[in-house]
Amino acid sequence: MTPILFEALRVGNVPLCNRIAVSSMSTYNANPNSHTVTTTHISHYSRLAAQHPGLVVLESTSVSKDAIFHEGDLGIWNEEQARGLKEVVDAIHKHNVPCCIQLNHPGRKSIGNCVVAPSEIHYMENFPKDKADAGKYKIPHALTRNEIDEIIDVYVLAAKRAASVCGADIIEIACCNGNLLHQFISKNCNLRDDEYGILKSDINNLDQTGGTSILLKIIKSIRQKISTPLFVKLAICDNIFKNEILDDTLQLCQALSKIVDLIDVTSGGISPQSQPRYLLNNDKDIPGQVPLAQLVKQNTLGTKCFIGCSGGLNHNIKQLNQYVKLGQFDIAFIGKAFMEQSNFMETILDKF
Ligand SMILES: Cc1cc2nc3c(=O)[nH]c(=O)nc-3n(C[C@H](O)[C@H](O)[C@H](O)COP(=O)(O)O)c2cc1C
Repeated sequence: MTPILFEALRVGNVPLCNRIAVSSMSTYNANPNSHTVTTTHISHYSRLAAQHPGLVVLESTSVSKDAIFHEGDLGIWNEEQARGLKEVVDAIHKHNVPCCIQLNHPGRKSIGNCVVAPSEIHYMENFPKDKADAGKYKIPHALTRNEIDEIIDVYVLAAKRAASVCGADIIEIACCNGNLLHQFISKNCNLRDDEYGILKSDINNLDQTGGTSILLKIIKSIRQKISTPLFVKLAICDNIFKNEILDDTLQLCQALSKIVDLIDVTSGGISPQSQPRYLLNNDKDIPGQVPLAQLVKQNTLGTKCFIGCSGGLNHNIKQLNQYVKLGQFDIAFIGKAFMEQSNFMETILDKF
């Protein structure tokens, strides 16, 4: 019998030939001035696709020139960058593997002169000042409402480019790893008192008020313009304390499950105080994000939205197959193992 990990799945109109996706992983190899692809990207992604995973998610692409985390980041804010990305998408398609483009804005983790965030809180605030890279980050400027509108617009333009110029099959919005959209939904860095502030959240109107509204407005605006399936990589919590209250993010998941095709569950990365997830779980032997993915799955039952999970899933493949078989989540996003093993998909098959 075929293990469920190798059963096909259809996301919107996109067929995935199995349920193992290459998770988004920055290579920091872009041309440093233009943030365009290099031949290294084409050969790297071609090699990954040659293994025949169900999906390849490209490394994060920045939606604006002010949204750069590393000088080797890829950009998607102009046509030249998008045309380069199309070559990467084409190289993946040659292996009959679909490709997802991830859109990102690092917010207060950006380098450069114009660093923005929901509130003026430094990434290293409340963290010992002698930490080596404290100076790498700047105190961000708190976005005005007009600037938030501009950011929503650049996401929509980037999504249109990803679909029409690059030919991406799926688009993923990154609301994780402590980037801008994650900063908006985090009580640890959104202290705004306007309609984009956490305290203003109205669970009946999440896309109009509260920290979640920027993410929901971006998704709804993209949905109005293009029909490409949409994923959100979502930090469910910040991993600063044990037993963080998840009510708000579970409400957000319920809202998202009606308008996106998949929620890829993750957590942490909001500040240097975030801990590895497994340290906060009751059973430290289970891959850290699995209990969170299961919780999101339970809270979105009855919708068409798939749930993804990432983080340490490659260590016990039979167990991973069991999680999917039991319906704890639908797609396994695997990162480092794909970088480290050129025959990783074969090693998975060998386990059955
Ligand atoms: C080198 C490296 C770069 C990464 N870059 C990104 C990225 O651009 N966007 C993102 O959402 N996650 C990024 N991640 C996180 C991975 O997508 C994945 O969630 C994480 O590595 C856990 O999965 P794994 O244990 O299978 O590697 C990166 C991880 C690594 C190791």
